[in-house]
Amino acid sequence: MTLWIPGPTEVREEILAECSRPAIGHRAPEMRELIERMDPHLPLAFGLSGDSTAQCAVHSVSASGLMEASLRGVGPRVLSVVNGAFSKRFRDMGELIGKDVTTLDVAWGSGVAPDDLARVLEQDGPFDAVTLVANETSTGVVTPLAPVADVVRRHPGTLLLVDLVSYIAGAPVDFDANGIDFGFAGVQKAFALPPGIAVCAASSRYMDAARAQEHRGWALDPVRVVEGHAQKKTPATPCTPLYYALAKQLEDISAGVTLPEGERDKTGAAAWDARFAKHARMRDRTLAWASDHGLEPFPAEGFRSPTVSCISSGDLDTAAFVAGLAERGFRISNGYGDLKGRTFRIGHMGDHDEPGLERLLAAADEVLAAR
Ligand SMILES: Cc1ncc(COP(=O)(O)O)c(C=O)c1O
Repeated sequence: MTLWIPGPTEVREEILAECSRPAIGHRAPEMRELIERMDPHLPLAFGLSGDSTAQCAVHSVSASGLMEASLRGVGPRVLSVVNGAFSKRFRDMGELIGKDVTTLDVAWGSGVAPDDLARVLEQDGPFDAVTLVANETSTGVVTPLAPVADVVRRHPGTLLLVDLVSYIAGAPVDFDANGIDFGFAGVQKAFALPPGIAVCAASSRYMDAARAQEHRGWALDPVRVVEGHAQKKTPATPCTPLYYALAKQLEDISAGVTLPEGERDKTGAAAWDARFAKHARMRDRTLAWASDHGLEPFPAEGFRSPTVSCISSGDLDTAAFVAGLAERGFRISNGYGDLKGRTFRIGHMGDHDEPGLERLLAAADEVLAAR
């Protein structure tokens, strides 16, 4: 069965092999070396600018852990943009840890309109932080980050916390250019690793604000995580098999190893850009296939994700379509929550390539023809 769900996604054999290396002592020099292997590459994943003062880190939690950590480092007043299931989780988490949360509800299928964000920031602010999900895996909606950044920047005391879970390694983050203060993601989406660890980047102003917050806890204290990584240490026993996998995958992405044939001479930032371009092409191909079958993307124009295509089912029996593909060895996803039965989602992320997508779409053609 090949995973074309919106994550976890397929993992290359070479990466799986990294996960079976012998255990190491996490206070031993090998751990420092392992973290040092990642350090040249994490800034490329987050698209840090050359003069960035932001710091990257890895933590042994799933993305939800760093979602909560991000909130522990900010003051009480939080504005949460909610346009899907994971942005709702971000909002709920803020409330559950005692923040005073204002919700900016956006129709599922769209990203926040900068003018609406500007209005709420003006009228109901000042806020200590805004939370946003860059790529709503539940709806296949990507929110362009630059217009959001332009608005948030007008409020110098407001930090921008961005969930990059199904976005990073699939699209350019441009952390500094997009004014992000804390960005985080798991590794089971466009990084194409098994699930279980998460990465983050924190701006220096986020770190300053976070150090001033009391009661940040311990295991999800963003300061402990980021400062620990800077010292090549982890607060608690890390998931070293996944650290090996991440180090190898970061090195391979930067070396062009994961790119389509013909592009493998690209290295460094150019290799990351080529990975992002591959994801955009796979989105375009998937939506063209959908259109050929009279099927419409669920997200509005301009908000269609490069990593997860969410397609409205129309008259199609979604469960039967998903099952038909599973019978042919391809696992895609039904719609999320209320969208179940009304949409289906194809995760074309990570190390999936265009020939693989053609095989999936040919199988989808067969399923549709057999109806
Ligand atoms: C956008 C987004 N945010 C957060 C999460 C939660 O990630 P995890 O299950 O790794 O904690 C997911 C998981 O699918 C997601 O897609």
